[in-house]
Amino acid sequence: MSLGLRAEAIVKSYGGKPVLGGINYNFSTGKIYALMGANGCGKSTLMRILSLLESPDSGGVVYTGENGMALKHDIGLRRRITLLLPNAGLFNTTALKNAAYGLGVRGFGRSEAKKLALRALAAVGLGHKTKQNALTLSSGESQRLALARAVAIEPELLFLDEPTASVDPYNKEVIEDAILGMKGRRGIIMTTHDEAQAFRLADVVLVLENGVLREAGR
Ligand SMILES: Nc1ncnc2c1ncn2[C@@H]1O[C@H](COP(=O)(O)OP(=O)(O)OP(=O)(O)O)[C@@H](O)[C@H]1O
Ligand SMILES: [Mg+2]
Repeated sequence: MSLGLRAEAIVKSYGGKPVLGGINYNFSTGKIYALMGANGCGKSTLMRILSLLESPDSGGVVYTGENGMALKHDIGLRRRITLLLPNAGLFNTTALKNAAYGLGVRGFGRSEAKKLALRALAAVGLGHKTKQNALTLSSGESQRLALARAVAIEPELLFLDEPTASVDPYNKEVIEDAILGMKGRRGIIMTTHDEAQAFRLADVVLVLENGVLREAGR
């Protein structure tokens, strides 16, 4: 686990309306960051840019490897990071096959993929649902399965966009426990509108406001 991430003067506008006005931040490896801010302030935009799904208008997203050298934004790097979106689409097949999907894509053999997928499902309390079709899961279970699919590949840096939006307190707790269970083993950058949750889970709470990022005090 040695992936470093630095945001350098990231600027982004849509249709002439500025959203990100020069984001500078150095994310330490292996920490949990919670990103907060009002609806529409640009959190998801920043998450897409940091996870290399979208390009900024100007500025840079710099990933660094073990020796601190900047890494190319190639498929090798992209496979070390994952963005989980709210309402991530599940596939019309078993929970287990959903959880194993990213492993298959990454060339894991069938039995290794199954082992890792089962472990990820257990981590989100879905060990008893492996054979159920994903499309028949409750929405709280679906959200947990989407998290399992994202963590099964053991990304070094995991972006979670509102991982507990619209789930009940029980499912929220299961997801929070799964996130805390990963603490120290991988970097996590998550967004949330739940301030108490942000301070419960994160090493650092960040606030995005008027296009700039600041650290929030406890
Ligand atoms: N591809 C796009 N085209 C046009 N406008 C966009 C695009 N993506 C985002 N926006 C706009 O940029 C602004 C920031 O959106 P973003 O989704 O990043 O906010 P957010 O902080 O994640 O909000 P929320 O808390 O509601 O999820 C919004 O006004 C949104 O409509
Ligand atoms: Mg958003």
